[in-house]
Amino acid sequence: MSKASSPSAAARPLVIGGVAPPNAVLLAPMSGVTDLAFRRLAARLGAGLVVSEMVASRELATADDEARLRAEGVGLETHIVQLAGRDPAWMAEAARVAVGAGAAVVDINMGCPAKKVVGGHGGSALLKELDLAVRLIEATVEAVEAPVTVKMRLGWDERSIVAPELAARAEGVGARMVTVHGRTRAQFYEGRADWDAIAAVKARVSIPVIANGDLVSPGAATAMLAASGADGVMVGRGAQGKAWFPGAVARFLATGVAPAEPSIEAQRALAHEHYDGLLGLYGRDVGVRHARKHLGWYLDAAAATAGRPVLADAKGAAMTAPTAETALAAFDRALSELEWRAAA
Ligand SMILES: Cc1cc2nc3c(=O)[nH]c(=O)nc-3n(C[C@H](O)[C@H](O)[C@H](O)COP(=O)(O)O)c2cc1C
Repeated sequence: MSKASSPSAAARPLVIGGVAPPNAVLLAPMSGVTDLAFRRLAARLGAGLVVSEMVASRELATADDEARLRAEGVGLETHIVQLAGRDPAWMAEAARVAVGAGAAVVDINMGCPAKKVVGGHGGSALLKELDLAVRLIEATVEAVEAPVTVKMRLGWDERSIVAPELAARAEGVGARMVTVHGRTRAQFYEGRADWDAIAAVKARVSIPVIANGDLVSPGAATAMLAASGADGVMVGRGAQGKAWFPGAVARFLATGVAPAEPSIEAQRALAHEHYDGLLGLYGRDVGVRHARKHLGWYLDAAAATAGRPVLADAKGAAMTAPTAETALAAFDRALSELEWRAAA
């Protein structure tokens, strides 16, 4: 248990349009990671809101199977779909489809640095085309009753920090919240997220601002909120292999006390629950392949809890096993080894 200096800013309730989540800690959209199985688990474990992987707007609007699966939200209390694209008409149509299928909020991706997305001039490429970015937001806002939000980086590079201007213009055309990852596109995931720089966004808008980037311990959330002045925080990689992490951050912000990490046995049970969810979502063959990286992350998280590195062979066995049964058996063996060495 670690004691906080103060629970501070997140005592203010977060409201996004008419949507009032139980707390202001969001699970970040992560392509290939935050599918429905993961989002359900993180929500059950206390994340205030969870956001889908980015979904290509044109594909969703034209009923592509993969896009539909990525936008799936059945069983979630509040479902947020993140759309990517650069064509206002497709964005508007995809937003209608998402809301028609149950999304309570539609988020627009203006931060993805991946070449594939930027090459199609979506994601963070929009940070270089603010007029188009604003038209996209406007078209989406006009298309649906549900609140529309925007997730952005600080700018394309350090010479073009546009997040404050984009956020203000987004608010002007009806966006109900902005999330800012405190890096530029040029940084990809290098260096450190600049939480102070997010304060310049907060100063320009009256809609909620969510701070994102490099939050990996519940205790640091206070500093992130203090530096950014933000109304909430979003966690991405810190939740990989730790679906309980957003909930732990929320507990810390509410009480000033970080909950203890789940025991390794409890982590095992959560990993199995997640694994079953993945098999259910994708079917066994694709599910087994998809789950491999998660098993690796769960082992890394358990190793951190145990204070011992996970044995490379044991991890490799869990991550390459060909079937669900052999993968879970290898995973359990790797965890038992960790527990055994931690106790020795
Ligand atoms: C594997 C991976 C996939 C991501 N996919 C998306 C995405 O689909 N949409 C998006 O807006 N951001 C995406 N991001 C960025 C995260 O949402 C987040 O902004 C970034 O990881 C910084 O937060 P963190 O330091 O807490 O991870 C992705 C990040 C990672 C690591």
